[in-house]
Amino acid sequence: MRITMFGATGLLGKTLMREWSEDEVTGLGSTDGDIRDEKKVLALVQRTHPDWIVLAAAYTDVDGCETNRDFAFAVNCRGAVNVARAARQQGARLLFLSTDYVFDGTKPSPYETDDPRAPRSVYGQSKAEAEVQVGETLPECCIVRTSWLFGTGGKCFPDTILKAAATRPQLDVVGDQRGSPTYAADLSRAIMQLCHKGATGNVHATNRGECSWFEFAKEIVRGTGLQTPVRETSSDRLVRAAERPKYSVLSSASLQKYGVIMPTWQDALQRYLTERKTGTTQTDSSLERQG
Ligand SMILES: NC(=O)c1ccc[n+]([C@@H]2O[C@H](COP(=O)([O-])OP(=O)(O)OC[C@H]3O[C@@H](n4cnc5c(N)ncnc54)[C@H](OP(=O)(O)O)[C@@H]3O)[C@@H](O)[C@H]2O)c1
Repeated sequence: MRITMFGATGLLGKTLMREWSEDEVTGLGSTDGDIRDEKKVLALVQRTHPDWIVLAAAYTDVDGCETNRDFAFAVNCRGAVNVARAARQQGARLLFLSTDYVFDGTKPSPYETDDPRAPRSVYGQSKAEAEVQVGETLPECCIVRTSWLFGTGGKCFPDTILKAAATRPQLDVVGDQRGSPTYAADLSRAIMQLCHKGATGNVHATNRGECSWFEFAKEIVRGTGLQTPVRETSSDRLVRAAERPKYSVLSSASLQKYGVIMPTWQDALQRYLTERKTGTTQTDSSLERQG
């Protein structure tokens, strides 16, 4: 298959580019073409002539989106629609990356793919609106929602925690937001499988299990043998521009429908820590067993 990837220079995109060896993949960053530029997007898609477009490009600064609402919607929503239109025009399939932040976080159990969107932040609103408009433009597209992404391809929570743990006497981390950390390498393999299986509709793809940021931070510090104490705090003590969902665990039922089972976040974290230290990736054995 021929794949064109927008957002290839980001945290997920870099990992996808590294992992995706069995197909012909063209990776594009913002300097190759701004997705806000409809003509440029179409020209890029015409030139690369893909079977699948993977759209991982986005303005992902969640707090920054609060003060740059127009820019957030221009990139995350109208930019995504430009890509969907180009896919439609060229007859390509589209896999669009979205987020757990399209939900409000008030549900007491994992979010299913058809639960109503009710974003609390501008970032979440821009992605939720993109889901609607991309779906209207290209009804057979596949929208993959993920959460709490981490990996060696860019800035992420475990990296921030480890840098802080090395220099600070103790860390205060919020314990009242729960979600599922997701390793970019595992998500990349799930995305490749979804494309190969011709997935359509909304799919939730995260590592299995859930935790709070506090529990995640404790496991990160423990996993590297650092002795820095991690203390639990609450979100009202840590003022941030954007409101985050209190609970945004995504049900794995839609992913299982395609025969894809992702490893637990604890297993993923161990492999991330090894990758961070040695520069080599390890595949979880359960992923290799899937057809
Ligand atoms: N990070 C998370 O925790 C998380 C959670 C849930 C969902 N997601 C979603 O997963 C996807 C990947 O996220 P990520 O963390 O890998 O993002 P990221 O590291 O912030 O990378 C963003 C990518 O988008 C590109 N980009 C930004 N603005 C662009 C524009 N106007 N035109 C073209 N390209 C543009 C960037 O290109 P340059 O670097 O070349 O500028 C970069 O390749 C996004 O759709 C995001 O919404 C992320």
